[in-house]
Amino acid sequence: MEASFGGRTVRKLYAAPLGLAGIGAATFGYASVIERNWFRLRRFEVPVLPPGRPSVKILHVSDAHLTPGRRRLIRWVRSLDALEPDLVINTGDSISHPDAIGPFLDALGPLLDRPGAFVYGSNDLYSPIFKNPTRYVWRTSQSDYKKRRREPDLPYRELGSSLQAAGWLDLNNRIGRLKVGSLDVEFGGIDDSHINRDRYDKIAGPVDPRADVHLGVMHSPEPRNMDRFAADGYDLLLAGHTHGGQVCVPFYGALATNCGIDRPRVKGLHQHRGAWLHVSAGLGTSPKAPMRFCCPPEASLLTLVPRPTP
Ligand SMILES: [Fe+2]
Repeated sequence: MEASFGGRTVRKLYAAPLGLAGIGAATFGYASVIERNWFRLRRFEVPVLPPGRPSVKILHVSDAHLTPGRRRLIRWVRSLDALEPDLVINTGDSISHPDAIGPFLDALGPLLDRPGAFVYGSNDLYSPIFKNPTRYVWRTSQSDYKKRRREPDLPYRELGSSLQAAGWLDLNNRIGRLKVGSLDVEFGGIDDSHINRDRYDKIAGPVDPRADVHLGVMHSPEPRNMDRFAADGYDLLLAGHTHGGQVCVPFYGALATNCGIDRPRVKGLHQHRGAWLHVSAGLGTSPKAPMRFCCPPEASLLTLVPRPTP
């Protein structure tokens, strides 16, 4: 048993907490400065086209949570035009600041000249507030919006008008149709279920079999809505919202999805009741929780190809 508190003993006493504090500071620095700006492009092939139809490329962006100062994010998104996508889908949470619409349009830049479609996420309507990030492990943030019960304070309507002015389809509780390359594409979309603005009944019904492919677009991948998209015959569902878990555990993955979808499908390409499902881990984070760990920010290039012939 040590009786002395001098010299070497004191150093031993403080070594462990100081070491842990140092590791914590280094991890936070990595998560907030390095990984948060370490943008990745993920590529997937999705066999949803009728046999013999030419492939098309969809760029899926989501959850930029843009604030005017995020120049790296803006530059990276702009650079994605070099991929020459045939269609751009934005699944919401585009802005996190009242002055972010201009920078967001600047980020899309030449992509706005391409066919596109969008839905809103809760963060397009409500400015960010600080929340304890650990509470996502035991509950979603849905109840925060119910408690606040206040009017939207971000200019989401201006955001939507700007995207529509570029020719993009507003898919918030709407259906739509676009010519993409030589394909006839039918869309169904819903507003954000996370804040109870989804109205699937407005778009309900079987897809038009004359279209070449049918895309279901939503912000939050909520199973009750995905069930209905799949039952109506949509081929590919696109969603964001989860941030892929945002702060993940190595060799384990996401701790939470912040909605009803299961952890294994928190991001990436999966299936849901016969439809394909792509969940984007997103480009950004809330400015009140500016970190990512083991879950880099991303956009995805989905190449739609013909279904295999039996
Ligand atoms: Fe988000």
